[in-house]
Amino acid sequence: MKTKELYSGKAKTIYRTDNPEQMIADFRDSLTAFDGKKKSEASKKGYYNAQISRKLFEMLEAEGIRTHYIDMVSDTEMLVDALEIILIEVIPRNIAAGSITRTYPIKEGTRFEKPVIVLDYKSDEHGDPMLNEDIAVTMGIATYEEIAHIREMALKINALLTDYLYSKDLILVDFKLEFGRKDGEIVLADEISCDTCRLWDKTTGKSLDKDVFRFGGGDVTSTYEEVARRLVPEIF
Ligand code: TMP
Ligand code: ASP
Repeated sequence: MKTKELYSGKAKTIYRTDNPEQMIADFRDSLTAFDGKKKSEASKKGYYNAQISRKLFEMLEAEGIRTHYIDMVSDTEMLVDALEIILIEVIPRNIAAGSITRTYPIKEGTRFEKPVIVLDYKSDEHGDPMLNEDIAVTMGIATYEEIAHIREMALKINALLTDYLYSKDLILVDFKLEFGRKDGEIVLADEISCDTCRLWDKTTGKSLDKDVFRFGGGDVTSTYEEVARRLVPEIF
């Protein structure tokens, strides 16, 4: 099945398979923040993120969103469609937190009247700077039509995830999506996990995501486990 390692990112390793149309994403226990400047390991983190991602991809597929998810091949390994990745990080924001509160005079906790979609250029080398449509098109990353479609998909995904997570007592503050192309279609890629979402507990407002690592507010494994218990109770 798994053949050659294709590349190793900060939290996942991607392998080729004997089918050129499919790859395997292995969710690792390593985690980084601030463009890789802060690094660590947390046991079972890869497992929890893989299972949370699986569950959210399955939910979105059932709601008509095309994702790259095919199947799990082990606890931490996800079989996915091989895509041509679009180098844009799409960040839907419902409540102000993180970089938007540092870059602009917007107070943390401000609830946006409608979701704010931020586009970043996916490039560690350039520090993931914010993009707009013209810059992305000029760099040849995507077409205007593709970006319009991606924004529409991101809004739909945000609405679906917000409701789903709220039913598990989680507030979806913001999150990061990546997309790719497959046979002329735009497909949701990467992962949706505690690494890529800001989740606040509905009652206490406590961060239940990678912010506990970024800002040192708690134990990563037990935080991610708490989210997994709510979203994938069947693994416990
Ligand atoms: P930010 O506030 O740091 O811009 O992050 C916004 C959201 O995007 C947050 O939920 C975390 C997620 N994110 C990633 O998944 N990868 C990244 O490299 C960054 C910077 C943020
Ligand atoms: N994922 C990015 C990094 O590892 C940034 C972050 O999530 O804070 O540096």
